[in-house]
Amino acid sequence: MTVSVRVPATSANLGTGFDALGLALSLHNTVTLKPLPAGAADPARAATADESLPVAAYEHVCHAHGIEPLTVHAKVTGDVPSSRGLGSSATCIVGGVLAADALHGLGLGADELVRLATDVEGHPDNVAPALLGGVVVSAVSDGRVHSLPVGLPAGGELDLLLAVPDHPVSTEAARAALPAQVPHADAVHNAARSALLVASLATGRWELLGEAMDDRLHQPYRAGLVPGVTEILALARSSGSAGACVSGAGPSLLVVAPGPDTAARLTEHLAGHPWGWQLLHLPLDPTGARVVGPRPA
Ligand code: HSE
Repeated sequence: MTVSVRVPATSANLGTGFDALGLALSLHNTVTLKPLPAGAADPARAATADESLPVAAYEHVCHAHGIEPLTVHAKVTGDVPSSRGLGSSATCIVGGVLAADALHGLGLGADELVRLATDVEGHPDNVAPALLGGVVVSAVSDGRVHSLPVGLPAGGELDLLLAVPDHPVSTEAARAALPAQVPHADAVHNAARSALLVASLATGRWELLGEAMDDRLHQPYRAGLVPGVTEILALARSSGSAGACVSGAGPSLLVVAPGPDTAARLTEHLAGHPWGWQLLHLPLDPTGARVVGPRPA
């Protein structure tokens, strides 16, 4: 059986929720895993990074559940660009985890799927919303992952604008830019605001999002990775949006509830930027990853 899984892109951190908060976007990859006949050459030798990640995730699930993995070939298609802070690695990992569940009939629950995907990704803020959809808050504790959806109020559509450059930034480089220690006052600043962020989202108090998304733990240290990012975010905030932040490890930017002029003013500003930028209106994906294509081999 060949299994295909459709997985949404994600925007992690949401400013102050570093490694904890994320949301799923209506932009998708499809990950297809095809078992190969016994004795087939190991396709991992020639695999690209996008092809090897789903296989690694598939094999991790098998090993964690005491199953001998099949030799599988992975293919990733879709619209989620790599190394742009939109969770493309998470789409590959979640695709591999759900394909393993489907191929071996494991019937794993959401908590176990999130835990296994987090093992491979290293942090839960992309894989949890990619699996569950919507906005998700997660905390890792001794190999367990506690992930809870943040329910938005009825009728509380979250309008999202993504600014996506034509230039990649690797997550490894962005994580290497972080300090080993931060000032206590900055930790307090973020703790208060990440809690305010969840409460603002849950109650529809969009007017508090600007303050709630004001990060001091990662964005200032990574500012050198995207030319002019501080000015771009300031413009997004001052042009009528509720809030703006770097998406995941960057370089894309997330603008929440943009004002009527926000897109036009960003377009004008970004026309003079050294990188080419695309603006995408992407609604939340409320449902998360789904197996879409089991079919006979
Ligand atoms: N929370 C992660 C980071 C997201 O900012 O490094 C990217 O994988």
